[in-house]
Amino acid sequence: MILNSHFSELPAHYLFHDIDLRVKAYKAQHPDEHLLRMGIGDVTRPLPRVIVDAMQQAAEELAHEETFRGYCPENGYEWLRQAIIDHFFIPKNIHFQPDEVFVSEGAGSDLGNLSDLFDSNNHVAIMDPTYPAYVDANIMAGRKITLLPCLKENHFVPDLPAQPIDIIYLCFPNNPTGAVLTRDQLRLWVEYAQHNHSLIIFDAAYEAFISSPDIPHSIYEIEGAREVAVEVHSFSKSAGFTSVRCGFVVVPFETGLQPLWMRRQCTKYNGTAYVSQRAAEATFTTEGQKGIHENIRYYKTTASLLLNGLRDAGLEVYGGENAPYIWCNAPNGWDSWTFFEHLLHRCQVVSTPGVGFGQCGEGFVRFSSFANRSDVITSLQRIKERL
Ligand code: MLT
Repeated sequence: MILNSHFSELPAHYLFHDIDLRVKAYKAQHPDEHLLRMGIGDVTRPLPRVIVDAMQQAAEELAHEETFRGYCPENGYEWLRQAIIDHFFIPKNIHFQPDEVFVSEGAGSDLGNLSDLFDSNNHVAIMDPTYPAYVDANIMAGRKITLLPCLKENHFVPDLPAQPIDIIYLCFPNNPTGAVLTRDQLRLWVEYAQHNHSLIIFDAAYEAFISSPDIPHSIYEIEGAREVAVEVHSFSKSAGFTSVRCGFVVVPFETGLQPLWMRRQCTKYNGTAYVSQRAAEATFTTEGQKGIHENIRYYKTTASLLLNGLRDAGLEVYGGENAPYIWCNAPNGWDSWTFFEHLLHRCQVVSTPGVGFGQCGEGFVRFSSFANRSDVITSLQRIKERL
């Protein structure tokens, strides 16, 4: 047996696992301390009742011969794919066939799995800092990666690559910096991809947090994007499904990738749980929409509390307006891990060190507004008093 040698090029631990180890070590030494968790972007609000009812009903169906179901279709039930098109895309005047939408168990897996479609000789461009899964998946496949620096100087929006790139990963609203692209800025990327015959993998996991009208929720709002982009969505952040698990990928026929992705999913994926698909369908009901938007409003209010509170504490902060994440420059010239450790040891606040998202994240930490509101208020008091 010969191992995939590219695994040796990966960091020893996945970022959030690494943080977990440090937090557990702190907790072992301070068992009575309540930790104020603003690290991983994991939701804390309960699911709307209508979604839980839909899951209970779906589970009940499995207990009866007449309504029992076995394997779900690899690309998801057509009723869910059609609901996604009707409720998310048609109101934006974007039209897809159900076969261009692939339901999955979440964006994280899709973003890694899409790598299966491409030869290892492709040249990939990824924003730095970035969600680590894009880099890890392409390191595992042995591809050449060009990092696109996202710095204060360019407002955390990367410049177009100077050379032709085959595959470009874009995430807007951005994780971790909270930066966004206007329609005009996104159009430049679509034009770049058309000109260079590149493919854009557009991660739209955080689109539900957009408030400003000039920020696109989907790359398909830009003319010509369906020839050059696949788009990845998640119910995790928009509907609080981090435990339920459901997401979807749009693979337009025009990209030429739809048959390959269908072939890949049929071989390697046995379909998203029926109960989760019924839960996702329920998010599109009137009650479901009301419930999930209340939760998003809650997180957005927490984000602005956090943004203003950190600013009042004298810290330099970015993002948080059209995104659930706040990107905070470490004070006193500290590096990311030093700031992370001070926050943990002096304030019992868990953050995410920016350098874990890439070298250009050095000197920053990320705060997540998916946190419990009263924990955020306590954190702000402690940061003001103790840092
Ligand atoms: C994050 O904190 O960056 C995300 O929650 C991780 C994820 O979505 O997998």
